[in-house]
Amino acid sequence: MKPVRATACSNIALVKYWGKRTGVSAELNLPAVGSLSMTLDALRTETELHPADADAFELDGRPVHDVQAAKVWRHLDRIWAASGRDGARPAARVVSYNRFPTAAGLASSASGFAALTIAAATAFGTDLPPAALSSLARQGSGSAARSIFGGFVRLHRGSAPDGSDCRARPLVGADHWPLTLLVVQTTAGRKPIGSTDGMERCRETSPYYSPWVATSEADLDAAEAALRARDLPALGRVVEHSCFKMHASMMATDPPLLYWNGTTVTVVHEVWQARAEGLSGYVTIDAGPHVKVLCEPTTATALRERLAAVPGVLGVIEARPGPDATAAILETTPETIPEAGREEASA
Ligand code: PMV
Repeated sequence: MKPVRATACSNIALVKYWGKRTGVSAELNLPAVGSLSMTLDALRTETELHPADADAFELDGRPVHDVQAAKVWRHLDRIWAASGRDGARPAARVVSYNRFPTAAGLASSASGFAALTIAAATAFGTDLPPAALSSLARQGSGSAARSIFGGFVRLHRGSAPDGSDCRARPLVGADHWPLTLLVVQTTAGRKPIGSTDGMERCRETSPYYSPWVATSEADLDAAEAALRARDLPALGRVVEHSCFKMHASMMATDPPLLYWNGTTVTVVHEVWQARAEGLSGYVTIDAGPHVKVLCEPTTATALRERLAAVPGVLGVIEARPGPDATAAILETTPETIPEAGREEASA
């Protein structure tokens, strides 16, 4: 095993993934719906893998021992198995930094598992094509499958029981359309219920879950067409529809799943008011209280200033379409990720 450093960017789903496929192995982590995303240059994870005597995981400069660490070892086991190598997986020291403009409330499983996947595959000497890396990343976290690729990405649901046709594919590169995504942070802290538990609870009890699944393929096709045509009003319409359909099915869960806070709603109204006044942006919200706003670069600054002034908003991060995930073998093994990373990560 070689020491490796990898970088992967987070992504925002413009057409959402929410729900897991049933009747297949949970280990495959297959989605019930496809999704379409933009990779985000401003939200990056850097991960190093070093040979070690025992497994160890450090995140943003702190040792991690709990279920989060167990998920990392499990993922390394998967990639070792996929590499077809004999014997036990070598122990590894995993050092990971989220290079996000502010760390609060934006920890990303998408960039984290994408970086870990490509780092481990490279460290284990596995020559897998990007589509296979994407499938492996999906087993760590559904959204991570999309972060293997830069630009705009579609993750196809597929129907094969072994998940072989559930693949992310790059649709258009980062230079196709330099859209801006504003990440409007409305609170610090962790979400009350994780996405896997939330999805299962929603599937079991929400009367709106089936219609959500049944209508998602049409949204994906409409979004892909709008993306290729660089038609922001058409894309924005699907983005908002997909987001609010997903949240409607979440809210109709028993007991309810409400990921928003008061500021989330205020920001949505502010974006819609700005749009009515000619400053066009379109909202989307994940399983958390932050609002993400898709807009043209020419309106980004004005919209950003306006949203930063909304009471309860902690900050606004500006992101553009980002690059593919990458990994490189470290020829001279440095200590770990450099000091600059630590300062940025803890800022
Ligand atoms: O990848 P997960 O298991 O964290 O699920 C992501 C779910 C959403 O963020 C709500 C939507 C998406 O497609 O990213």
